[in-house]
Amino acid sequence: MVALYSLMIYFFILTVFSQSIIIVVAYNLTASQSIIDGQTMISQGGTFELGFFSPSNTKNRYLGIWYKKIPVQTVVWVANRDLPLNDTSGVLKLGSTGNLVIVNQGESFFWSSSNSSVASAEPVLEFLESGNLVLRDMRSVDSGSYLWQSFDYPGDTLLPGMKLGWNFKTGMNRYLSSWENFDDPTRGSFTYGMDLTGYLESYIRNGSNKYYRSGSWNGLRFAGAPDLKPNPIFTYEVVHNADEIYYMYQLVNKSIILRLVLTQTSTEGHLQRFTWVERTNSWVFLVSIPRDRCDDYAICGAYSTCDATNVAVCQCLKGFKPKSPQDWTGTDWSEGCEREESVNCTKGEGFIKFTGLRPPETTGSWVNASMNLEECRVKCLNNCSCMAYANSDVRGGGNGCIMWFTDLIDIRQLNDAGQDIYIRMAASELDSKANSRMKERVIIIVCTSFAIGVIVFCLGSWYIWKKRSSKGMALSSS
Ligand SMILES: *[C@@H]1O[C@H](CO)[C@@H](O)[C@H](O)[C@H]1NC(C)=O
Ligand SMILES: *[C@@H]1O[C@H](CO)[C@@H](O)[C@H](O)[C@H]1NC(C)=O
Ligand SMILES: *[C@@H]1O[C@H](CO)[C@@H](O)[C@H](O)[C@H]1NC(C)=O
Ligand SMILES: *[C@@H]1O[C@H](CO)[C@@H](O)[C@H](O)[C@H]1NC(C)=O
Ligand SMILES: *[C@@H]1O[C@H](CO)[C@@H](O)[C@H](O)[C@H]1NC(C)=O
Repeated sequence: MVALYSLMIYFFILTVFSQSIIIVVAYNLTASQSIIDGQTMISQGGTFELGFFSPSNTKNRYLGIWYKKIPVQTVVWVANRDLPLNDTSGVLKLGSTGNLVIVNQGESFFWSSSNSSVASAEPVLEFLESGNLVLRDMRSVDSGSYLWQSFDYPGDTLLPGMKLGWNFKTGMNRYLSSWENFDDPTRGSFTYGMDLTGYLESYIRNGSNKYYRSGSWNGLRFAGAPDLKPNPIFTYEVVHNADEIYYMYQLVNKSIILRLVLTQTSTEGHLQRFTWVERTNSWVFLVSIPRDRCDDYAICGAYSTCDATNVAVCQCLKGFKPKSPQDWTGTDWSEGCEREESVNCTKGEGFIKFTGLRPPETTGSWVNASMNLEECRVKCLNNCSCMAYANSDVRGGGNGCIMWFTDLIDIRQLNDAGQDIYIRMAASELDSKANSRMKERVIIIVCTSFAIGVIVFCLGSWYIWKKRSSKGMALSSS
């Protein structure tokens, strides 16, 4: 019965829509079929719709995917984002080389999916309920193997189940790229993706410049994203193995509508997680990154920490001083800080523990997941260029080892959500720290003994007074 029903939907459904006829091609598209401007295709469970559209303020036509059920057209993927049609003559069809193409009436070419590597494939286009548009070889028995899939070519939106990251086998990197602005899907200047120069970090970039760093993956979340925590709406993970590295999230309850989108305005870029609220018929954003000035990449320079609750957000770490004091007091912190006592790998050097931090950028760092913190300390101490170490994974009280070999930058204060970092310090810094601890101890001892002395003195005086006055009373009553 269900099979019969889906077979029925499989054929064309005619819908009359404000005078123009919209033909809905359900589910699959084969070599003999095409989608012309005005027709749409619906994902297998009805959540998404694919077709030609124009953003507001333009007559340009793009082939895109949007939510079928949401009245505010919200586009999550665009095929020909860099080359729109200027009329409604667009056609989406299967090309002769087993790929997907957009042409116009004059057969001018506007977009193509990458060509199929299987020359003799019999491609069929399917629109999965996840929003993934996939080309499958009809003869392939493996239902999870695709000739091509739109999820490998994200636009500005990461949907649940999409991978953000690298496939090392194919060399493919999937990253988000913002629209030029709200009504222009042309590739903007902002991108968001996983980066391979550090340890499991993601970045928002403006062009090639780093704009926001997530912090490295610490087993629980990206270390700089305290709001990424277990929640009833979605689960998330970073997978890293020999074949791939990616971030992905999944809905807990499939009936929730959630998207992560990289937006761009004339002045800034934001990574925002939206959820659709049916009651108010609107998108509500759960998180918007960057959140504050401390999320601006490396705003405080090296060896300093950013605390957004302060007016002057940057502060040198203890044992460090501004490199350029004049700029520093003038609130240009970018030069960062330098050591008060330099380290040169001499005897007596050690580490000072700093707590509650977003760890520094991990470019050039070294990670070993099976070492413990003490092994990590010894290894770092014995390597003169090791500047700091920490646990690479914070789960279960901390595991693994990460060591830094460069100046430590882009640290911020996160307090409870932050991590402990152990930074190499000169012997004299450790001495002065030990010294000040010693002085503190002496003061405490003196004060407590003084306090005890006072109490003994008072008790003694009280006892003598009591004795005398009771004697006096005895005398007067007699
Ligand atoms: C086409 O769509 C139907 C209905 O969802 C689906 O069961 C089938 O696997 C699809 N693919 C092919 C190649 O027919
Ligand atoms: C539309 O684009 C075609 C090329 O695809 C061009 O030849 C034509 O002049 C354009 N028309 C307008 C009105 O811009
Ligand atoms: C696909 O192949 C055709 C013909 O060889 C070529 O013209 C086209 O540029 C190719 N497209 C892509 C995306 O590689
Ligand atoms: C999922 O969410 C819908 C709508 O909010 C709700 O009706 C349904 O009970 C939820 N399902 C589960 C398994 O929680
Ligand atoms: C992004 O980069 C461009 C070009 O370098 C620059 O003009 C613009 O101000 C930058 N935007 C932000 C928000 O940093």
